[in-house]
Amino acid sequence: MTTDTPESTIRALLAEGKGILAADESFPTIERRFKELGIASNERNRRAYRQLLFKTRGLGESISGAILFDETIRQRTSGGVPMPELLEAQGIVPGIKVDEGTAPLPAFDHEKITQGTDGLRERLAEYRKLGARFTKWRAVIAIGEGIPTEGCIEANAGALALFAALSQEAGMVPIVEPEILMDGDHSIARCEEVATFALKAVFNALSRRRVVLENMLLKTGMVLPGEESRKRPDPATVAEATLRCFRRSVPASVPGIVFLSGGQGAIEATQRLNTICREKGLPWKLTFSFGRALQDPAMKAWKGSRGNVAAAQEALGLRARLNGLAVRGSYEGRMEKAKPSA
Ligand code: 13P
Repeated sequence: MTTDTPESTIRALLAEGKGILAADESFPTIERRFKELGIASNERNRRAYRQLLFKTRGLGESISGAILFDETIRQRTSGGVPMPELLEAQGIVPGIKVDEGTAPLPAFDHEKITQGTDGLRERLAEYRKLGARFTKWRAVIAIGEGIPTEGCIEANAGALALFAALSQEAGMVPIVEPEILMDGDHSIARCEEVATFALKAVFNALSRRRVVLENMLLKTGMVLPGEESRKRPDPATVAEATLRCFRRSVPASVPGIVFLSGGQGAIEATQRLNTICREKGLPWKLTFSFGRALQDPAMKAWKGSRGNVAAAQEALGLRARLNGLAVRGSYEGRMEKAKPSA
């Protein structure tokens, strides 16, 4: 029986010096990541991989929650333990991605809408029974010539708000994720402008849907220039733009903001997180909810081979620990060298 409340789940997810492991890659995404390393994406390999991640010794010391994909929440380890139970035993709160990916937004060239509201109420009830205590829905906003449009931002904000309201109805904590994509050659100033506008629209939609802001988390990216601009701003510049954007658009009643990594390098993401988290006196707690920036070194070390499990777990453990230190603002670059496998 679950005795958790939204408040206890949020307290657990935002525990000091911890963050969230996003391991909720959909079938096409995990297939792409595996393929780059020559790993076949079949049920057995996906289970072996996620099991190795979640079994990493001491993971719960720096990971507070893990976001699962539909297939994973139903899987058992090779020893027969349901994945959510394995996580709970590590002191990690199980969560679930409930969106069903993106599709073209009709009549809006190059823009996307996230799908998955059909049957969502029923799916949420099932996930709750399977042990999920929080949920996630990702919307994507692309920057380019003439985009994002207000139409795209409004459509996605509306879907995020309905998802959040339904998740709260089902007794789970929604992680509301509008991601501003890094693709393109835009400046950091343009990213800040778009992120500020999009976050304001999302919080307007959430209020209209009577979402309890105290019982949700925001997940979004750091404010960064487009990948193709080839600009590499220093962590202080990223921190300044990111925090200015949040102060202008995220209500103080939101308990926490968790960062996606969005394609940044693993070390770069940790450095920037560390600088952002040194800021004092913010109304929200800040932490990480990284996918690639936590997993990439581990997946590369694993390569689909049983003999590499220990090396992969060591790589994940190191990234988790260092990001845990970054949340406290006490990460230092020299710590990267402590373990050669990262
Ligand atoms: P990345 O950190 O790889 O961007 O993934 C986080 C996530 O959950 C995206 O929805």
